[in-house]
Amino acid sequence: MEIIQWSEKYSVGIKKIDNQHKGIVVLINELFNLMSQGKAKDSMNEIFNQLTDYTKKHFYTEEAMLIKFAYYDYTQHKEEHKKFISKLTDLHKDFDKGKVTISIEILNFLKDWLINHILISDNKYAPFILKQDF
Ligand SMILES: [Fe+2]
Repeated sequence: MEIIQWSEKYSVGIKKIDNQHKGIVVLINELFNLMSQGKAKDSMNEIFNQLTDYTKKHFYTEEAMLIKFAYYDYTQHKEEHKKFISKLTDLHKDFDKGKVTISIEILNFLKDWLINHILISDNKYAPFILKQDF
């Protein structure tokens, strides 16, 4: 089962970035499956760690690319990443302490953030990068 179905409409036209976005989708779907199956906290914790690490890695890739191509809205873009990582880290801490369980609301939040970020913010830098003969 998938909470997010990857669609070509989410493509930013840059293969490396699309592949990383797909990787994030896979991890969110995996969390969704673990939650649906009522799996133990430990296995969810592991995927949560992977999701945080992978997302950080992806943001670094994107930010390095934006710097390289002197993207005019770099600061704002980086800020969005920073806010998301801090939200993800807080969620993970609360989950670890048993303050929250992974719920459909949390998964919907992750899904909505990712899709909105791709469709609006990533799609804003994409043409700027692509026109520079990426
Ligand atoms: Fe981004």
